[in-house]
Amino acid sequence: MKLPSHGANPGHLYQASGVEKPESMIDFSVNTNPYGPPRWLKETWPSLFEVVEDYPDPSGKAAKAAIAARFSIGSGNLLLGNGAAEIIHFIARHAAGRKVVIATPAFSEYEDACRAYGCEIRHVPVDPENWVLPIEELAEQAKEAAVLFLCTPNNPTGQVFQREELLALLRQTRLFGTWIVVDEAFYDFNSRESLITEIASFPHLAVLHSMTKMYAVAGLRIGYVAASQEIIHALTPYQPHWNVNAIALRTAERIAQDTVHAEQTRKWIEEERDWTASELAKAGFMVLPSAVNFYLLRDPALVDQKPLLRFLLGKGVVLRHTENFRGLDGKWLRSAVKGRVENEHLLTALKEWKAQ
Ligand SMILES: Cc1ncc(COP(=O)(O)O)c(C=O)c1O
Repeated sequence: MKLPSHGANPGHLYQASGVEKPESMIDFSVNTNPYGPPRWLKETWPSLFEVVEDYPDPSGKAAKAAIAARFSIGSGNLLLGNGAAEIIHFIARHAAGRKVVIATPAFSEYEDACRAYGCEIRHVPVDPENWVLPIEELAEQAKEAAVLFLCTPNNPTGQVFQREELLALLRQTRLFGTWIVVDEAFYDFNSRESLITEIASFPHLAVLHSMTKMYAVAGLRIGYVAASQEIIHALTPYQPHWNVNAIALRTAERIAQDTVHAEQTRKWIEEERDWTASELAKAGFMVLPSAVNFYLLRDPALVDQKPLLRFLLGKGVVLRHTENFRGLDGKWLRSAVKGRVENEHLLTALKEWKAQ
């Protein structure tokens, strides 16, 4: 049974697992904001129609200016992507044919993109139950590498590397000529400060952000990388003209000015996450501490969690398998934090599993 390599699109998971799709289901495999996009997006949607006729601004000037102002950096420190995923592919292209290092488990797209460009891939494992950055090993491996990828807050574990650890690694690697790519696609689900503030001190640091997750705009495709001008100049030739559409650009500009949506979401998520985690522990499941809007769970009575995944699919509860996350290898399931009603639904299904 070959399971889909990404969460969301639950129809694919039902098909691959051979479980019949029930009439209704809840998708806990997608980890975008469960409260949806900001209300203003729906309100302003009709006015966005006016931009469809013309080509978008290929430089994304207005969106970049808004993002730059948000983080007190220059517009020249930014490159916009058709989602952060597109930027990962630009970075992989920069590394083509060379060595890249990935601290794992991590988002699977780094490896997929780097493989497509013939990179030699080295994984440095991080223990999900003892989430500490292996600084010495990473620095050693990074010496000969074009790029080192780190994902924090981490997808899939939901955990964060401490800022001091990241700074120590950046200091140790500053003369290697290796880019340290820190993927912060989920940074705004957590109140810690983004590492973007450090790009002026570390010319080899590139910080990836996505608007997909917090603003629930996966279909619009907006992401960006913040880095030194050297890195931005190296990536710019890979950027197709008009790679970000006009609606996405307009939305990105507005999102960069909105702090309320993220703040409100963080408050809700934290409450729901803490409640769900404590209920799951009472029901006999292992849950890893998470800083964001998803978490890893497992039934300690099983090594491979596939039977539980299939049982839940039958109940209309869709979790994310971890078979293609190196270091997790199917031993955990990833669940999104949702609203109380949905979280209760998940708990009920899990209790039924235990009661069999
Ligand atoms: C850690 C991480 N980085 C980047 C991305 C890609 O995000 P985008 O939708 O902006 O391409 C994802 C999407 O799942 C992700 O989980």
